[in-house]
Amino acid sequence: MPIVLGVGAGIAAYKACELLRLLTESGHDVRVVPTADALRFVGAPTWEALSGHPVTASPWDGAHEVAHVQLGQRAELVLVAPATADLLARAAAGLAPDLLGNVLLTAGCPVVYAPAMHTEMWQHPATQASVATLRSRGAIVLEPASGRLTGPDTGPGRLPEPAELFRAALRVLARGAAGLAADLAGRRVVVSAGGTREEIDPVRFIGNWSSGRQGYALAATAAARGAQVTLVAANTELADPAGARVVRVTSAGQLREAVLRAAADADAIVMAAAVADYRPAARSDTKIKRAEGAPAPIELAENPDILRELCRPPRRDGQVIVGFAAETGNLIENGRAKLAAKGCDLLVVNQVGGGLAFGAEDNAAEILAAGGGRTSVPRGPKEALADVIWDLVAARLG
Ligand code: CTP
Repeated sequence: MPIVLGVGAGIAAYKACELLRLLTESGHDVRVVPTADALRFVGAPTWEALSGHPVTASPWDGAHEVAHVQLGQRAELVLVAPATADLLARAAAGLAPDLLGNVLLTAGCPVVYAPAMHTEMWQHPATQASVATLRSRGAIVLEPASGRLTGPDTGPGRLPEPAELFRAALRVLARGAAGLAADLAGRRVVVSAGGTREEIDPVRFIGNWSSGRQGYALAATAAARGAQVTLVAANTELADPAGARVVRVTSAGQLREAVLRAAADADAIVMAAAVADYRPAARSDTKIKRAEGAPAPIELAENPDILRELCRPPRRDGQVIVGFAAETGNLIENGRAKLAAKGCDLLVVNQVGGGLAFGAEDNAAEILAAGGGRTSVPRGPKEALADVIWDLVAARLG
């Protein structure tokens, strides 16, 4: 199902080109519906080239396709960026002088407006009344950003950056209006991600296949839900998630130090990292040579169990701690035993193998709760699992 990108007649229309690119490059089919005056800022050829579809502002073009009804009916999301004061007023009044007005009246999917205008226009009671009306009908009207406007003046009214609008669109696609809820605002959370490496000598290490994707998805979704996020990342090659403070570590010892430091004033901790249970008892400063016939030269020492240490009293009042467990069989039985042994509040149990967990885009899990609850999360994007984990954490935080 396509996304409709509505474009109002504001200078910020040029930023919608970048938003369009982000949407199409991530595999979305986007139909651009500008207003007639928006085409004075950015012309139809630009929108057509970037979207790969014909573009018109008029409901009279291609009337045989009944676009004025079908576009709205078929859309998965309507995103209007920039939404001008005039466009918001017309939408609130239910006017449909152009194709976009018709789309807005026929859309059954979530509709998101990203307003952009001068501060006076944004603060005008007429505009605020339009916004209130649209919101009361279930539309999502984002707050404009503050900053430099078209002229030399500054204030609220700027269109949020395309990357931010893109993230908001993805969250609404995944979860509807609830995707933009800031239910973790004011909360400090710590997420560990990736896999630790224990050095054997200058060229070798003991490691694991964790890509860090699940931990990064947890950090990104927590930040999108308003949390202040510290991401302790062990040996990952992913782009920093927006809004998270990233602390890079290599070994289990370093991960332990970074997590314990951040945990001191955290409301929630999620240990998604794959931590090595053992490390070489001593790291050799020179490359270890093969000594044929001799016993293997690496002796192992046990690493501390960080999750268990975090769960041990004294624990910060109300702190919620989540562990992960990668299992190859007996998911629930092993998971229950591990949950009890570690002493955490929630344990996310993954089945390893079959294209799931390590390195994969998708994940499926059973989330076990201390006290007996169980939530099954079917196979889906790691962000979806992350959101369910934060739902359960948010419920425990109250
Ligand atoms: N973990 C940890 N410190 C360790 C090992 C694991 O904090 N030294 C955390 C992981 O981040 C994860 C959870 O403990 O959240 C479960 O890890 P897992 O390796 O599955 O558990 P183990 O206790 O090592 O059990 P197993 O015998 O299955 O390896």
